[in-house]
Amino acid sequence: MYEKRSSSLIDTISNKNKKRIPIWLMRQAGRYLPEYRKIRDKEESFLSMCLNPKLASEITLQPLRRYDLDAAIVFSDILTIPLALGKKVEFKENIGPEIEIVRNKKEVEKLEFKRREFLEPVYETLEIVKRKKPKECALIGFAGAPFTLAAYMTQGSSERNFAKCVSFFNKEESGFLLLLDKLVDLTALHLINQIKSGAEVIQIFDSHAKIAAENNKLRDFCINPVEKIIERVRKETKNSYIICFPRNIGKNYIEYAANLELNCISLDQNVDRRWAVENIKPKNQIRCYQGNLDPKILVKGGKRMQKEIKRILKDFADVNHIFNLGHGVLKETAPENITELIKIIRDQEK
Ligand code: CP3
Repeated sequence: MYEKRSSSLIDTISNKNKKRIPIWLMRQAGRYLPEYRKIRDKEESFLSMCLNPKLASEITLQPLRRYDLDAAIVFSDILTIPLALGKKVEFKENIGPEIEIVRNKKEVEKLEFKRREFLEPVYETLEIVKRKKPKECALIGFAGAPFTLAAYMTQGSSERNFAKCVSFFNKEESGFLLLLDKLVDLTALHLINQIKSGAEVIQIFDSHAKIAAENNKLRDFCINPVEKIIERVRKETKNSYIICFPRNIGKNYIEYAANLELNCISLDQNVDRRWAVENIKPKNQIRCYQGNLDPKILVKGGKRMQKEIKRILKDFADVNHIFNLGHGVLKETAPENITELIKIIRDQEK
């Protein structure tokens, strides 16, 4: 029997050893890759790709064939949850998603999980990727946090300040909380199913948590719902690791992490790393930080990128660190810049 090589990402997140710095990138599969665009150009839509396990598994594996990465993240989208709740969602090129809007509490009350076909393909995709990926590559599943999903569902799009969402929760907070509760139920189920289908790590994206924080609602709208999800996931599964990414909440990262039993906190590019290591301490868990190269610096590449990567490695040298960006890979990124990024990190380890 051959020995199963362990994953450096699992080693780091479980505080085992630090032989190799694990690297993966949010949106590591996507439009910056020519092999992705080749599939995308033939397909009807982004959504039809997410819903086709054969294609979605192939797209998940594409960045692993090109790069020496330590994790695969399943190719899907956070907006399959509103689809599963019966809402229409369209992804418009260069505009972003358009979601059938939820206007008031009455409409929230009517929401129910009725379209399994929007969630089930991701489980099959995970099963295929698990069989095909290199053993030492960790498999990551994900979901949007309830607040970020509710923000899209009450706004209808990713309009900058989410004014309709804010006016919904100011006018009818009980309706908004009910929406968050329904999203907790379905998101927890979706994450548990992903773990049962092979995901070893899950990441919860709270991309718009800043809107809640600015309205003094971080605790009620972001922390509490994610706490319920983590509780359920831990109750129903064994040996799974949870990364949370409450993007752009600044100093509120302290309160967020202190109240959640997460395994790793993902930092956006605006977070000062030394401040983070000093101050952001997850409840009862070993400290592990993920991040946080600015995706725009990856686009530029060159000396500036090299300098910044070295700084990041130095700032996190004494803690468990998963190298990642502060947000997703931008579509104008040159694929060679990622080859360079990985080389810089691997050379530092020698
Ligand atoms: O990281 C990965 O490689 C896995 C795939 C992944 C996608 N979306 C594929 C995608 C993940 C993890 C997501 C999460 C997601 N989706 C988030 C959270 C992370 C973040 O970016 O803040 C959000 C907010 C969404 C919603 C969403 N989906 C938006 C706003 C957009 C449009 C923006 C864009 O870049 O076009 C999408 C579409 C989307 N999701 C694409 C991809 C590869 C682009 C679709 C295309 O090919 O046209």
